[in-house]
Amino acid sequence: MLTKEQVLEALQDVKDPEINRSLVELNMIRNIQIDGDQISLTVVLTISGCPLKAKIEEDVIHALKALGAKEVRVQFGTMTDDERAALSAQLRGNQTHNMAPGQAQLLNPILAKDSKTTFIAVTSGKGGVGKSTVTVNLAVALARLGKKVGIIDADIYGFSVPDMMNIEQRPTVIGEVILPIEKFGVKVMSMGFFVEDNSPIIWRGPMLGKMLRNFFSEVHWGDDLDYLLLDLPPGTGDMALDVHTMIPQSKEIIVTTPHATAAFVAARAGAMAKRTGHEILGVVENMAWYEAKDGSKEYVFGRGGGAKLAETLATELLAQIPLGQPENHTAEPDYSPSVYKAQSPIGKLYLDMAKRVMEKCQTTVNQ
Ligand SMILES: Nc1ncnc2c1ncn2[C@@H]1O[C@H](COP(=O)(O)OP(=O)(O)O)[C@@H](O)[C@H]1O
Ligand SMILES: [Mg+2]
Repeated sequence: MLTKEQVLEALQDVKDPEINRSLVELNMIRNIQIDGDQISLTVVLTISGCPLKAKIEEDVIHALKALGAKEVRVQFGTMTDDERAALSAQLRGNQTHNMAPGQAQLLNPILAKDSKTTFIAVTSGKGGVGKSTVTVNLAVALARLGKKVGIIDADIYGFSVPDMMNIEQRPTVIGEVILPIEKFGVKVMSMGFFVEDNSPIIWRGPMLGKMLRNFFSEVHWGDDLDYLLLDLPPGTGDMALDVHTMIPQSKEIIVTTPHATAAFVAARAGAMAKRTGHEILGVVENMAWYEAKDGSKEYVFGRGGGAKLAETLATELLAQIPLGQPENHTAEPDYSPSVYKAQSPIGKLYLDMAKRVMEKCQTTVNQ
């Protein structure tokens, strides 16, 4: 005869996929009934329309069948407002440990002094050079290499990460805590999640910094991210300064096209990084060439801009990414307009870039 204790024990390993904590620990398992080898129970969800219901059900059934149950019935309930508030407090409480003095209001362990998360801001001198494409694909490549990765899409006017990764869900909000959306193994937060119908946003200066702050104080990143990439707005505006104030240890990657003008403008973003004391990991030259069917390269946007920029900034050219669209089809379950497949030629370039970034971050940690 199975006992309630055994059932709870078996469910210890079943996690809420969004909060990434055990259902038992989150007090989401209720009303366990055992009748011989038949078990029924209720899982109370944070919100009624939880998109991950099916996954939770499957995991619970799997765990209990492994325990020896023949039949498992899972019913779903929804937390009361009070329960949600308590959970939100629990999650926030969890985020306040290890705070450096004066940082308490930021409420997030990834910003703490001893945080093991490496921040990488991706910047460019101007828009349209592939900053978001590079952010998304570098993040996915790091995740493919086994790292825990997040993206903050901080390009508030030009947010595009959700669309590029084909994220249609909206984040779950529990009380005052927002759960990032996970796609391709990357946790994503974007202003785009909170904008209806792609309508334009009008923000005044101070609101920008506030938004970035909220992406730390109100988003549950967990405390085990290896890398958090920030897709910054192009140029050297307020956001770059906000990042500096909030994350002085952030590193930077500068994206340019090979065109001399793009590299020239990108140099300003690089100079800004230097002035704010951010370490520049390197330059990515995107749209470096077009490879024709016969294998010959056409330097559509000129040549040498990336190398020259790297030289000007006394850093390295991390990668040259040619022109090319991901070979994705809308019918595929993992379709996304902008993520290159791991084994495609450009996907491999991103894996190499990710390895180099990991190496460089490792060296800085050991110094
Ligand atoms: N290597 C590339 N080959 C082909 N198209 C690209 C490449 N990199 C970016 N693009 C496309 O160029 C456009 C601008 O890229 P995006 O990443 O949005 O730039 P940014 O964030 O700098 O404004 C997008 O439509 C994107 O899909
Ligand atoms: Mg962009």
